[in-house]
Amino acid sequence: MAVGGRSCLRLGSNKGPLRSSLRNVTRPLAPYLKPDAGVQILNGLAVAPIDFENVHTRANAGYFDNHVWASEYFRACHRDDTFRDRWQAAIGSWNDKVIVDVGCGPGNLFATLGGKPKALIGVDVSKVALGMAKKIGYMPLEADAHDLPLVSEFADIVALNATLHHCDAMATVLREAARLVRPGARKREGSGCSRGREPLSLGPG
Ligand SMILES: C[S@@+](CC[C@H](N)C(=O)[O-])C[C@H]1O[C@@H](n2cnc3c(N)ncnc32)[C@H](O)[C@@H]1O
Repeated sequence: MAVGGRSCLRLGSNKGPLRSSLRNVTRPLAPYLKPDAGVQILNGLAVAPIDFENVHTRANAGYFDNHVWASEYFRACHRDDTFRDRWQAAIGSWNDKVIVDVGCGPGNLFATLGGKPKALIGVDVSKVALGMAKKIGYMPLEADAHDLPLVSEFADIVALNATLHHCDAMATVLREAARLVRPGARKREGSGCSRGREPLSLGPG
């Protein structure tokens, strides 16, 4: 199927052979996707429907779709030892965990915290940021934090760092994030660029 001149495959569809380059995209992400969420593969990226009529969503995507700004952000933000130590104290190691980083941007959180997650899904509305996150080990998923195309109760950790305040329906975003957390696991929200704050515990665990 071709959409707008770009290669497009609907995830979960059995129609037509997947090209081998696309298998790498679909296989690891597929178990976590809602079958009816309309996620498609566009130019090698898993993409869910996003309401870009929403001016806040469009503005965020616009900023992080600028390569220079995204690269500068990646270099300069949330990369210090204090930030790393506070997140690690709050949430522990990411080793062998299934992680969802909502609003992952270019991947700052993983770049700073490190570890060897079992699965690391990065959700964002910016293709450029997701491309950068992919390079450091995220499974990128272009989707809106208000309406995540992911199944419920599978994640060991759902992290939102400096994301919540960019979303105009914060309660909805938190509900969506909480929905993903498997029973007994935990969800953390980092309050943004303020270095002095602890990650805030919002879920069980
Ligand atoms: C300030 S950056 C934080 C990036 C990263 N989490 C970090 O800690 O450095 C905010 C991120 O949230 C993303 N974002 C904003 N609104 C979003 C939405 N509705 N759904 C998904 N991501 C969103 C932006 O594109 C951007 O990458």
